[in-house]
Amino acid sequence: MRVTVYDSPEELAQAAAREFAARAAEAIGERGRFAVVLAGGSTPRMTYGILARDYRDRIVWKDVHVFFGDERTVPPDHDDSNYKMAREALLDHVPIGRVHRMQGELPPDEAAEAYEQELRDFFGSEDLPGFDLILLGTGDDGHTASLFPETSALEVHDRWVVANPVLKLETTRITLTVPVINAARAVYFLVAGEGKAGPVAEILEGDPDPREYPASLIQPANEPTWMLDRAAASGLT
Ligand code: 6PG
Repeated sequence: MRVTVYDSPEELAQAAAREFAARAAEAIGERGRFAVVLAGGSTPRMTYGILARDYRDRIVWKDVHVFFGDERTVPPDHDDSNYKMAREALLDHVPIGRVHRMQGELPPDEAAEAYEQELRDFFGSEDLPGFDLILLGTGDDGHTASLFPETSALEVHDRWVVANPVLKLETTRITLTVPVINAARAVYFLVAGEGKAGPVAEILEGDPDPREYPASLIQPANEPTWMLDRAAASGLT
C-alpha cells in the first residue's frame, strides 16, 4: 500500500486533484480517453471543487468518461444522491465527455443490471473492466464504495455491479464489486477525519477481517494509494 499523509483536508484535496489530472493526461495520451470512477460521500467534494475551479483548462474534459463506484437508491436530484453531489461540485462546471450515472431511482436489481450492461458496452469485452482511476473513500466502519461489513456483495465474484442490501442502514445500495475495483489501473482512497483513524490503522497495519473491514479487500495489481489527512492517519504507528 502506498500511503501519503497531508496536514489538512485541503492539502489532501489539492494533491488528489493533481493526481487526477496526471492520470487523466496519461490515459488520454495513451488510450485517447480517461475512464474514471468517482467516489461518493462528503470527503471527495473538495477535490471535485478544486478540479472544477483550477483544472477547467488543464484537462481534456471531452475525453473524460465519468462513472460512479456506488449510489444510494434515490432519484438523481435527491440530497443523498452521489450523482447530485458530483454534479454540483464538478460535472456542471466542466465540458465533460460523458457521464455514466447509476440510476438510483430504479428498482435496485434493475439499476445494477443496467449499469453492468453499460460498463460491458463501454469496455466491450468479457474481461473485467480496466478503469484508469477509481476514487474511493472509507467509512468509520471500514466500508468502501457500498461494500459494507457483513453484506452479501462482499462474496460476489461473478458480477460487475450489484444491489447490496445494507440492513444497518435499512436500505439497499448499488455498488461496483470487489473484482471490478481490483481490476483498475489505479485506485486512490481519499480519507479524512478522526472517525476514520481506527479502521485505517486496522486496514493498513493490522490483520483485518475483510468481512469486518471491506476496504481491506481492495488490493489491485497496482498497489492502491491511501491519501490521508493527519486526523485519519492518527492511529498509524
Ligand atoms: C457513499 C460512498 C462511501 C463513502 C464513505 C466515506 O456512497 O457513501 O461511496 O463509500 O466513500 O462512506 O464517506 P465520507 O467521505 O462522507 O466520510
